[in-house]
Amino acid sequence: MITVKFENKVKMPRLGLGVWQCGEKTEDAVKYALQAGYRLIDTAAEYGNEKAVGKAIRESGISREKIFITTKLWNSDIRKGRAKEAFFDSFKRLQTDYIDMYLIHWPAEGFQKAWQDMTEIYHEGWVRAIGVSNFQIHHAKELENASDVIPFVNQIESHPYFNNQELIDYCLEHKIEVTAYSPLGSNENGLLEDPILMRIARKYGKTVAQVILRWNLQRGITSIPKSVNKKRIEENINIFDFELSSGDMNKIFALNKNERVSADPDNFNF
Ligand code: A2P
Repeated sequence: MITVKFENKVKMPRLGLGVWQCGEKTEDAVKYALQAGYRLIDTAAEYGNEKAVGKAIRESGISREKIFITTKLWNSDIRKGRAKEAFFDSFKRLQTDYIDMYLIHWPAEGFQKAWQDMTEIYHEGWVRAIGVSNFQIHHAKELENASDVIPFVNQIESHPYFNNQELIDYCLEHKIEVTAYSPLGSNENGLLEDPILMRIARKYGKTVAQVILRWNLQRGITSIPKSVNKKRIEENINIFDFELSSGDMNKIFALNKNERVSADPDNFNF
């Protein structure tokens, strides 16, 4: 598995399983993913499935240090100033000795104080890296100016119809790694039936999903496609045996329409 190495030497896999909306199928999905070779599992307090993720990991027979677990601090906890308590709640639900990555889920009011609390948890060694999610450039700048720890990761919406490239360029220039959520457009915006992507997929003997995930890998970002289906979980990790030409990379960049499938981080109401 290709990894990215942070400045503190911690390595994160470039491809993971996202478990948003996996519901009761979470445990099986994580088991299928670990069997298929995934080593990054991305959950969140808000998804309500941290317990199932922890159980599947413990029962997988794979040693804990080989697996990278990301979870996230929910907005109501940010607003109530209970970042530390919420972290240890997640920690207990996951039943693990440490967490690999803890993210601020959305830039809710009070995220600056949450970040201070998270840096303390990080310095105490409970978590190997900390970061943010859904941060725009102006949110990231606030943390850079206010803290001695910059986020290791910004997890944001990115797929060919909303490539979010300006934000990605900013993050990478500032040594903030990027993880793309909804890399397949959450299968609700027609992306997987896009004729240009279908043509490229045929050319390489791959599926549209594989082409998109490979495109992310080649542009230097991590993807966390969600699936509860064993066959599709296996399909989504089978992206390391081909390479998109620069012409095809550019054709995929040209599909951008600036159309989100998720909420706008500058205007969300949850
Ligand atoms: P399912 O869980 O039934 O596989 P995203 O990661 O962009 O949010 O997309 C997740 C959605 O895409 C889910 O509806 C998931 O359904 C579906 N999906 C995941 N992988 C694939 C794939 N390889 N081909 C088609 N649909 C997929």
